[in-house]
Amino acid sequence: MLSKKKINKIKLLNNKKNFRLDKFIELALFSSNGYYLRKKPVGRKFDFVTSPEISQMFGEIIGVYLLYHWKEKINSRFNLIELGPGNGTLFKDIERTAQIIPSFFENANVNLIEINKELRKIQEKNLKYFKQSKIRWSKALNFKSKLPSIIYSNEFFDCFPVRQFLYNDNHWFEKYVKYNEKENKYYSINKRVISKKILNILSKHIKQKIYEVSYSRNKYFDKICKHLKKNRGICILIDYGYNEKIKNFTLQAIYNHKKTSIFENVTQQDISSHVNFDELIEIAKQNKLKINEFVSQRDFLIKYGILERKKELLSKKSNLKKNLIDEEVDRLINVDRMGKLFKCLVVSSL
Ligand SMILES: C[S@@+](CC[C@H](N)C(=O)[O-])C[C@H]1O[C@@H](n2cnc3c(N)ncnc32)[C@H](O)[C@@H]1O
Repeated sequence: MLSKKKINKIKLLNNKKNFRLDKFIELALFSSNGYYLRKKPVGRKFDFVTSPEISQMFGEIIGVYLLYHWKEKINSRFNLIELGPGNGTLFKDIERTAQIIPSFFENANVNLIEINKELRKIQEKNLKYFKQSKIRWSKALNFKSKLPSIIYSNEFFDCFPVRQFLYNDNHWFEKYVKYNEKENKYYSINKRVISKKILNILSKHIKQKIYEVSYSRNKYFDKICKHLKKNRGICILIDYGYNEKIKNFTLQAIYNHKKTSIFENVTQQDISSHVNFDELIEIAKQNKLKINEFVSQRDFLIKYGILERKKELLSKKSNLKKNLIDEEVDRLINVDRMGKLFKCLVVSSL
């Protein structure tokens, strides 16, 4: 638990009696002392091990997919944008794969979108041998050029704050967060929803009795879709999430590899939620984009050749390494591990 002084310092209280759940999450993750602005969260030692960190094959398959799309549909100067590159591992694997078509990077304006200063430093260090074009880093996504874009991300869209609504005794309530100064503790309260606009949206979710939504995530994705529609291009995103109505809220906190409450270790732990892919697909359709793929991570990786690549790598390795490669691929595609929960959505104007 943080000291009162520290909590005041991070201005989480904001002099308000209570604040909306998404505002609390935003402060816990993205305020100047928030989890994402100071922690180095990606890698085996840290809170998550993401797919690119598990195996080079993940980035190679994405790389081949991007290369094919560029060659077939763009084949000219373009923006290559990665959202939330973590340690830069996915970028490195894509770069290595792209060496089979040198004109890919010769034509790329590379832009890495990273909010975390520490991670940016790690990316700069890990990518210092990348000479094929200049990398531009940005904290936020700002489309400056009218060139076609290839945008990709892994475990980025789960970072956005959510709002939670629940239905009880014929009324909808929204979760807010309160702080008890005496006990130095956060806890949630339910406030009755009175906004007609929100009640209208919620009326579609009465059967499930809950609704979890990230308006900031949806808005971010809408911005990408609008850009693609206007300037052409493709967006490929991989994240854990769902495409059916959910029965339970998905918001979760992880501290030292263990699930905790979102009110513990505030600003020290990751808070994330499963991505509602139905809503993202709807946004893409509203923007008149094509849905090229919406499949599980397992299906995507198998469709684009991970088993063939595994076979090739196995043929060159010692028995010890072979077991390791088997384990890595299993972790990525086994339906009881990352294979089913993680999904791949590809939308494009092309
Ligand atoms: C869970 S990590 C995934 C890292 C990497 N993509 C991987 O698969 O290993 C999320 C990444 O997104 C960054 N990030 C989260 N929210 C962001 C935002 N709103 N804008 C820019 N970067 C953000 C984090 O700092 C981190 O690099």
